[in-house]
Amino acid sequence: MLRPLQMAHQFLAEVIQPEDTVVDATMGNGHDTLFLAGLAKTVYAFDIQEEALIKTEKRLEEAGLTNAQLILAGHEKVDQYVTEPIRAAIFNLGYLPAADKSIITQPTTTLEALTKLCQVLSLGGRIGVMVYYGHEGGQEEKEAVLDFVSSLPQQEFTVAIYQTINQINRPPFLILIEKLKK
Ligand SMILES: C[S@@+](CC[C@H](N)C(=O)[O-])C[C@H]1O[C@@H](n2cnc3c(N)ncnc32)[C@H](O)[C@@H]1O
Repeated sequence: MLRPLQMAHQFLAEVIQPEDTVVDATMGNGHDTLFLAGLAKTVYAFDIQEEALIKTEKRLEEAGLTNAQLILAGHEKVDQYVTEPIRAAIFNLGYLPAADKSIITQPTTTLEALTKLCQVLSLGGRIGVMVYYGHEGGQEEKEAVLDFVSSLPQQEFTVAIYQTINQINRPPFLILIEKLKK
């Protein structure tokens, strides 16, 4: 069985074409940026920690990829940087592993970014949200995000959850959002 992050990658890879623009809303160590850069024409990747940009830049350089724009800004400002339609986006909520665990994604800014990305998502485009909620503040963000995605209009979006239900320690789960083709 695929793990939730593997499922997120598969879900996005199914729709991304070589001419597409995509967004990594939470760059972190750059694993998702690297993955997206291998599929799309342009990746806009956001993080509020300089450390994330340094690690991601190195990762991309090692892979010989030059098609990602690494942006030191919150994903809630996505509309200031991305003006064209996007085909896909990914969020990995929570904190940067092996870094300052007090710097976490926040419900208000996460929802602002999700709202903006849902607007610029092309028809048939997809967003994957990996929800990590074991840390302090994680439960509140999880509830806020679930409330938001549950209220997306079904005429425009299909939303699903991929989650194990027999595991201890609140394992992460995936929210899958697809904008309908009409
Ligand atoms: C779970 S980590 C991301 C892991 C990453 N996708 C990877 O492949 O390593 C979450 C990241 O979100 C970042 N973050 C927190 N608030 C943010 C915001 N408003 N906008 C963008 N990134 C944010 C954190 O700095 C952290 O690096």
